[in-house]
Amino acid sequence: MASISGKLQPGTEKIKMKNPSTILVTGGVGFIGSNFIRYVLEKTAFKGRIVNLDKLTYAGNPENLADVQKKYKGRYVLVKGDICDFKLVGRLFKKYSPGIVTHFAAESHVDRSIFGPKDFIETNIHGTFSLLETARQAWAGRKDVRFHHVSTDEVYGSLGRTGKFKETTPYDPRSPYSASKASSDHLVMAYHHTYGLPVTMSNCSNNYGPYHFPEKLIPLVILNALEGKPLPVYGDGMQVRDWLYVEDHCAAIWRVINKGRVGQTYNVGGNSEMANINVVKNICAALEKYRPSCCNVDLKGKKYLDLVTYVKDRPGHDRRYAIDFSKIRRELGWKPSVTFKQGLERTVRWYLDNSAWVRDVKTGAYRGWLKKNYTR
Ligand code: NAD
Ligand code: DAU
Repeated sequence: MASISGKLQPGTEKIKMKNPSTILVTGGVGFIGSNFIRYVLEKTAFKGRIVNLDKLTYAGNPENLADVQKKYKGRYVLVKGDICDFKLVGRLFKKYSPGIVTHFAAESHVDRSIFGPKDFIETNIHGTFSLLETARQAWAGRKDVRFHHVSTDEVYGSLGRTGKFKETTPYDPRSPYSASKASSDHLVMAYHHTYGLPVTMSNCSNNYGPYHFPEKLIPLVILNALEGKPLPVYGDGMQVRDWLYVEDHCAAIWRVINKGRVGQTYNVGGNSEMANINVVKNICAALEKYRPSCCNVDLKGKKYLDLVTYVKDRPGHDRRYAIDFSKIRRELGWKPSVTFKQGLERTVRWYLDNSAWVRDVKTGAYRGWLKKNYTR
């Protein structure tokens, strides 16, 4: 196995890579994928090439990587295409011979899966199958390669007031989204057990940070607040999520790919459990600090917090998620580096500083989708 070395920038970590030449990233234009590509190119010793296969759905905004495209010409290649397309995936394996696949591509939004599950079944299940089957054939028994699958804590279902998800928690998915992710997780592990494909997997909690698409709670609330629009809180707002800063997640994935045990999954969490209504209150507080409501003409004299509006609940809304990440901490030495307060302030400042990105994203396919509301 080859390993790479190189001069590290401050704050970077030195990791031995299995096959340094090419990483095939799927869904790398999306929120986490784009942060991951930037992380690998800027903050690790990786000197090879990244090929990014992305269908550029409504959630895939190429602006997320415009800087990378310019700065890393020759080391970063974007291929527009569908992971379900066997022929295309096969051609990419032939042309680029990736030693690592990092699989992010998915339909990722629970609300959309409730209104229309079909794309979730296609991309999340069939797409994962197409990648696994191609990797199995192309790699034919090689051990010096990795297929890393990025999954979610939602596959474990919903918790009561106490307890945390462990890697051994039985699967109990409850939305079309989480059922499709659970299905893909099982396929990944089946390819390892049946064919010996060298896979690793990570199941993480709710990410937040730069480039987060504004259909998800945190960016939606930030942008609605700035425009003086209602801040929709589902049900009683007491559902609990564990918030993970996206760059911490990227660092965890990189560790798992490089140091994780083959055939294992690692839970990744932010150590930041919080009820949704408190997340919204924290966002309002951060906005008051960096863009006070009294100076925002769209607020018409209101405070950000006055915009909170309780709306109909998401059907089958999971009550609480919490992650036990002791396995990745113990085995790979990873833990989150920022608190929720630090991560949220960075995130709010990023949205304030990137109004051109916001404008671009809000005039795309996203526009108007949230006009749909839950009715029952
Ligand atoms: P995202 O919706 O922001 O991005 C998904 C990307 O996949 C987009 O660029 C989209 O164009 C691309 N894509 C969709 N269908 C495709 C297809 N058929 N072929 C090729 N590309 C396709 O998603 P995200 O939030 O960045 O999530 C990335 C991964 O992480 C997903 O697998 C998701 O299930 C998982 N995950 C996300 C979170 C989170 O909080 N966002 C938490 C846990 C796990
Ligand atoms: O837990 C990991 C999952 O986190 C990932 O697998 C998913 O891809 C990702 O989208 C995210 O799923 P959630 O459904 O938890 O994220 P979302 O931001 O949509 O919602 C977070 C919580 O906030 C959830 O309890 C629903 C609630 N919510 C959401 C929206 C969009 C609201 O109260 N109001 C809203 O308008």
